[in-house]
Amino acid sequence: MNWIQVGFLSDIPRQGSRVIRTAQGEIALFRSIDDEVFALDDRCPHKGGPLSQGIVHGKKVTCPLHSWVISLETGEAILPDKGCAHRHQVRVAHGAVFIEVVERVKSEKRMQSHAEN
Ligand code: FES
Repeated sequence: MNWIQVGFLSDIPRQGSRVIRTAQGEIALFRSIDDEVFALDDRCPHKGGPLSQGIVHGKKVTCPLHSWVISLETGEAILPDKGCAHRHQVRVAHGAVFIEVVERVKSEKRMQSHAEN
């Protein structure tokens, strides 16, 4: 596996998110209250809402547009809604955040701030 560093844990507010731009689109990094980090495409499986602007609670995020709840662990919508946001492998080492690189991903390593809700 190839991993690229996309920032630091301290860049992501607890129960908040940051967005990184890649050649494959925007990826939202979420940080839970207990400092777990998750990475999903920043597109809700319902109608493409920006999940990074949703409310993080536990290991889920509520989409800001129509309030679907998405699992940060799997990207799956919580029943009764159905759909899945693409999930990316992420790890944290010594305070740095890495995502797994797939062939076409080229990180510009630009993080955009989205305020904690
Ligand atoms: S676009 Fe996310 S719930 Fe509709």
